Amino acid sequence: MNIIIREANINDLNNLTVLKQQVWISTYATEGLIDEFSSYVLSEYSLDNVKKSIQNKDITTLVALCDDCLIGCVEILKTPQKPIKSAYPSIEISTFYILEKFQGQGIGKQLLSECFNQIKQLGYQQVWLTVYYKNQNAIDFYAKQYFKHIGETNFILGEEKHKNYIMLKDI
Ligand SMILES: CC(C)(COP(=O)(O)OP(=O)(O)OC[C@H]1O[C@@H](n2cnc3c(N)ncnc32)[C@H](O)[C@@H]1OP(=O)(O)O)[C@@H](O)C(=O)NCCC(=O)NCCS
Repeated sequence: MNIIIREANINDLNNLTVLKQQVWISTYATEGLIDEFSSYVLSEYSLDNVKKSIQNKDITTLVALCDDCLIGCVEILKTPQKPIKSAYPSIEISTFYILEKFQGQGIGKQLLSECFNQIKQLGYQQVWLTVYYKNQNAIDFYAKQYFKHIGETNFILGEEKHKNYIMLKDI
């Protein structure tokens, strides 16, 4: 497989929007669609919002391509934040999505490695993220990349709170 990793640009807009919507649904709507899920996906990952995220100077969106086709993405949120009170300010990665058919083939690991390079270039030695506590595949993937559970937070969707683990790694 010929994988290229590069920064997203505005020409990726349609593919990136569909990728985010598709992977979100395939990951979280495991029992089918409910209005909260569909509303969230249609608003959070609207063309307009994805365009804003590509153009946002505080975010680097990396995309993975296989033979010129988009198969994955991840966002580096470049404004450092403390993931928990006792932690140092560090960089968060978010929206880490590999198209379902391409999962488990080493592409996530390659994208993560490029994130680590870019975060080190920004002058930081730690990276953190949040992951839904029932997303065991992703939790196992992150554990294998030596991320450690350091706390918990809630992701609010409609009226519901969804527990997320906060994970941190030294790079
Ligand atoms: C989580 C995700 C980004 C991982 O990317 P991926 O391309 O599927 O993972 P890779 O194939 O690069 O896996 C890299 C390593 O992790 C291991 N790994 C991957 N999934 C694993 C799992 N469920 N359990 C244990 N190990 C796992 C692989 O075996 C591989 O190990 P190796 O380096 O020893 O060979 C991807 O599966 C995905 O997009 N999932 C759906 C969306 C999602 O949950 N995103 C995260 C939101 S926080």
